[in-house]
Amino acid sequence: MNILLLGSGGREHALAWKMRQSNKTNKLYIAPGNAGTGLVGENVSIRVTDFSAIKRFVIENKIDMVVVGPEDPLVNGIYDFFANDAVISNIPVIGPSKEGAKLEGSKKFAKGFMMRYNIPTAKYMSVTKDNLEEGFQFLESLSPPYVLKADGLAAGKGVIILNERLEAIDVLNRMLSGMFGSASKTVVIEEFLSGIECSVFVLTDGKSYKVLPVAKDYKRIGEGDTGLNTGGMGAVSPVPFANDVFMKKVTEQIIEPTVNGLIEEKIEYKGFIFIGLISVKGEPFVIEYNVRMGDPESEVVVPRIKSDFVDLLEGVANGNLNEKELEIDERYAATVMLVSGGYPELYEKNKKIEGLDKIKDTLVFHAGTIKKEGSVYTTGGRVLSLTSFGDSKHEALQKSFDVAEKISFDKKYYRKDIGFDL
Ligand code: AMP
Ligand code: GLY
Repeated sequence: MNILLLGSGGREHALAWKMRQSNKTNKLYIAPGNAGTGLVGENVSIRVTDFSAIKRFVIENKIDMVVVGPEDPLVNGIYDFFANDAVISNIPVIGPSKEGAKLEGSKKFAKGFMMRYNIPTAKYMSVTKDNLEEGFQFLESLSPPYVLKADGLAAGKGVIILNERLEAIDVLNRMLSGMFGSASKTVVIEEFLSGIECSVFVLTDGKSYKVLPVAKDYKRIGEGDTGLNTGGMGAVSPVPFANDVFMKKVTEQIIEPTVNGLIEEKIEYKGFIFIGLISVKGEPFVIEYNVRMGDPESEVVVPRIKSDFVDLLEGVANGNLNEKELEIDERYAATVMLVSGGYPELYEKNKKIEGLDKIKDTLVFHAGTIKKEGSVYTTGGRVLSLTSFGDSKHEALQKSFDVAEKISFDKKYYRKDIGFDL
């Protein structure tokens, strides 16, 4: 079949690389893609939220399936755009409907959903300018630190954690006054949960589901989890603390109620559910839902899937996912992200990348790269995700750290402590 994948990061390179391996894949297009996706498919210059351009491309190129990488097109309703247009309504879009995408697009909706199905999550209150006094009282009832979340999408920056109540009040006021534009007109105040986090990925056809490998990502720029938040500096899979006992709780208390809740509310959902979890003394709590795969988690989760990925996605599209086999590679996978010096603040682009041709056993997934005149240049903060396998976490990581030294570009930076806390 002919597949169109939307997105341009390391996640999309990993997905494209995997889909290329399926003998069900004929043409594979990535919009807009990067230098890495160009190695396994054909990049097309279309923005992921330009639905009419996507429609034209799908018709002209006889696309049989659209796979959505990032959240933006999903939250903006690409699933419904296809479903409601007679010309393309027969072409499956892998992703939730606009209503389902609210699990990521609205923190208030996600919290309400969790309350309705008794899914364990932090205590919260949803606040606007109209019930601000109640919000202040709720803050007073909590002990520090205080967690404030913009209701809507805020490019990964909408969660602010503060140690002082007065500071929290100040930031709450600023958020409600447009600190994140309309995304923070509603703010969710949450109790702070202390524990260790992991990412659980579920693939669902809206009836049945499969649990993909669990991963842990590293969000802060600095070693020892210090400094600013980034899109992700590395990831490992599996996660030792997410053992069978823990995953049984996750399945019973979180995954099943989530999928059943979607069915109960007649929310169409044919795609990935990414559950950001925190283990508090061995008990799982949901920190957030996302409606897509994670990045850089995909760079370790996808390579561990042994089954034909396109066949699984076909199961999602056709509603017979329960008939498909999901086979997982037992080995450890680790990915280390090479980033541009200065990221996540100001950084320079357009640095020539050298050494890519020397890499053998490690998978190099491109995140922010572009090909120009036969060479590859940096074009983003996160540049390359280096994924290796090993029989131990240590072996997998060591291979990626070794490769991190073999690839060079001006002001390259990476964290040398990925996976050390597990
Ligand atoms: P997000 O931008 O939604 O991924 O959230 C950013 C990070 O904030 C999460 O990965 C957690 O580390 C942290 N966080 C969010 N909510 C809570 C909470 N209720 N308690 C503790 N940490 C939290
Ligand atoms: N790695 C976290 C995310 O993709 O949101």
